[in-house]
Amino acid sequence: MVIAVKTDHLVDPIDFLGYKEKVAEINERIIHKTGVGNDFLGWVDWPVDYDKEELRKIKETAAYVRANYDVLVVCGIGGSYLGARAAIEALNGNVRGHKPEIIYMGQTFDPTYLSENIEYLRGKKFAVNVISKSGTTTETSVSFRLLRELLEQRDGVAAARKAIIATTDAKKGALLELCKKEGYVRFVLPDDIGGRYSVQTAVGLFPIACAGIDPEEILKGSAAARLDESTGDLSANEAYRYAVIRHEMWSRYHKAVEFFVTYVPSFVQLGEWWKQLYGESEGKEHKSLLPDSVTFTTDLHSMGQFIQDGSPVFFETTLHLTHHRHDIKVPHDEENLDGLNYLEGRSLGNIQDRAFEGTLAAHTEVAKNNNVVLELERMDAYHLGYLFYFFERACAMSAYLNGVNPFDQPGVEVYKKNMFHLLGKPGF
Ligand code: PA5
Repeated sequence: MVIAVKTDHLVDPIDFLGYKEKVAEINERIIHKTGVGNDFLGWVDWPVDYDKEELRKIKETAAYVRANYDVLVVCGIGGSYLGARAAIEALNGNVRGHKPEIIYMGQTFDPTYLSENIEYLRGKKFAVNVISKSGTTTETSVSFRLLRELLEQRDGVAAARKAIIATTDAKKGALLELCKKEGYVRFVLPDDIGGRYSVQTAVGLFPIACAGIDPEEILKGSAAARLDESTGDLSANEAYRYAVIRHEMWSRYHKAVEFFVTYVPSFVQLGEWWKQLYGESEGKEHKSLLPDSVTFTTDLHSMGQFIQDGSPVFFETTLHLTHHRHDIKVPHDEENLDGLNYLEGRSLGNIQDRAFEGTLAAHTEVAKNNNVVLELERMDAYHLGYLFYFFERACAMSAYLNGVNPFDQPGVEVYKKNMFHLLGKPGF
């Protein structure tokens, strides 16, 4: 079992038995694609049914980008960029100096952010991966127009065509038409996979491969999770056990918030990906948990006070790694003016593990907060692939338990309509 859902730090009991039949029945709907939103269940079998020829092309094109460019700009928003960013930062860390450097545009209108990035790119040899299923997302389209203009004016149209790689729908959309006209290398986001479930498709895998991470390992990890998390037997399905805990926290214990807790600064974007997955899938009909994320021990010095003594409206889900990718020891200091010699020779991994245990005890035994611990052995491409699928499967179950469609996002359209009207877009 790659992920173990530990329940020994839950303060309130969970009635797993009471969900046995319901979970088995929903699992049938997921497997046989008969539930609401069933035209967006392509991600369920994708880790084994993926397009093998496309994966070959992803690897080949990524090798070309790695050999020829200093920077890759990933241009997308929401599900069209969060998974790639989460993976690249979790696996390569936040340390600068990787080649190609990966930067992100297309996820904001902020003029300062975009101007600064465009200025930075003027002096760089850069490629662009523009990612949009609809091909009409305004944030992404505006950034892409700026990037394309810079490439075409600086390097010429032919060089720009080589530097632009697009990931979009197979059959429709404005980006597809542009790709065909310009002859860009093109990858596909399948019709039956929505943005927030797309990290295992070219949407995530191409930027991930450009960052030097083996995309096949992500798929292998997801395939292993698919095998483990496809059973309708709740007692043997960790993803569904996690979904049931979430549902009990909301419906029985009236918690309003779930904090996704990690102890790793380079997992901040993983938290952003997780927030989108749960927020956009479940945030419907005014009956869902608010997904939030914190990084300990960093945030123990900010949110820690609230979590210990504030309104008890939340529970915590802590991702705990049992193995640290790197470790480092506290050195000896003859003078010991900082008083740290009691830690001398101790590894930071060991110190962090004690911080984790002390925090769990503080939050559960003293504050009486529920804490579910997801134990993951290590963070590498395989384990991350497993984790992505684990959360996707748990999210589908969780949303179905809540009685909502996990795969649509009608609420997102409201701001767009207002903005388009204010901007004078034809038809609004
Ligand atoms: O999960 C989703 O469906 C969304 O977050 C989309 O991915 C996001 O809105 C971007 O859409 P598109 O890929 O069409 O540009």
